[in-house]
Amino acid sequence: MKLLLTGFNGFVAGSVIAHAKGKWEVHGIDIAESPVNEPTVFYHTMDLLNDQKLTDIFNEIRPYAVIHTAAMANIDLCQNNQERAEQVNTGITKAIARLCQESGAKMIFCSTDTVFDGKKGNYTETDAPHPVNFYAETKVKAEQIVLSASNNNVVARLSLVMGLPVMGQGNSFLADTIEKLKMGVQVPFPANEIRTPLDVITLGSALVELAGNQYGGIIHLAGSTKINRYEMARAIATTLGYSPELIISSDSNAMEGRAPRPNDASMDNSLAKKILKTPMRTLSEGLELTMNFKI
Ligand SMILES: NC(=O)c1ccc[n+]([C@@H]2O[C@H](COP(=O)([O-])OP(=O)(O)OC[C@H]3O[C@@H](n4cnc5c(N)ncnc54)[C@H](OP(=O)(O)O)[C@@H]3O)[C@@H](O)[C@H]2O)c1
Repeated sequence: MKLLLTGFNGFVAGSVIAHAKGKWEVHGIDIAESPVNEPTVFYHTMDLLNDQKLTDIFNEIRPYAVIHTAAMANIDLCQNNQERAEQVNTGITKAIARLCQESGAKMIFCSTDTVFDGKKGNYTETDAPHPVNFYAETKVKAEQIVLSASNNNVVARLSLVMGLPVMGQGNSFLADTIEKLKMGVQVPFPANEIRTPLDVITLGSALVELAGNQYGGIIHLAGSTKINRYEMARAIATTLGYSPELIISSDSNAMEGRAPRPNDASMDNSLAKKILKTPMRTLSEGLELTMNFKI
């Protein structure tokens, strides 16, 4: 079966490739040349905003399923470049949802825990989103498009993703933090942001499973440990043998020029635990998995 994976060079996609290769015929799209060299994986370098080229490649591949990870994922960049954020996060998702609808392909869309306002925490799939920044607004609009295109489609709301890049580069806060800790540099983490971090290895496995199973609808892919980002970083530093004193507390909503963040965006993972074979893991289980994962 053919799997189309957008955002191919990204952090989450690296783990999706690792779990899908050998089981799926994987076709990846990204805007830049791929640093990954996997003989069984096919690469297509293009800007997904090019609707005609996207249509041509899609019709050439005719995927069974699409895992759509490509996005403008930097919250502050989205806040300051709203037109582009809307085009990339909502517009491209709309184009892919239409192609999937026309061909009958199943679409797995990567959304975010930050669709919630963070006033309640422990959000379930039935809680209503209430975005506090523009990035989340674009994701909520995209969620609605994906869900209304087909009952088979999946909106996977991802918690904060923790781990080392499996392939290529990617936007990994853990890799950046380890580099700074090695140099003895202090690293600020917001104590006001409570999350349910999920390791990237578990996430890749869950997304591939969703591409091949019968589930349709919203699902929260979240870890089993609820913790603020400052405490999370201290726990990680301690486990990896660095001084936790190098982790310093900050408040993301008190920093000038930053887009607002939800305080408690923790998500309930009961549904994922019930319907997926992939187990949702605790912070320490996920950390062990990501530090020792080999393809
Ligand atoms: N990482 C997290 O903690 C987290 C949490 C919740 C939700 N999510 C969501 O999960 C998804 C994956 O996140 P990630 O951390 O893997 O993001 P990422 O590392 O930034 O990967 C996204 C990839 O998409 C590519 N891309 C962006 N615009 C494109 C375009 N117009 N055409 C083709 N490719 C394009 C990016 O290329 P460039 O880098 O060159 O732009 C990048 O390689 C995103 O939808 C994100 O919103 C992530």
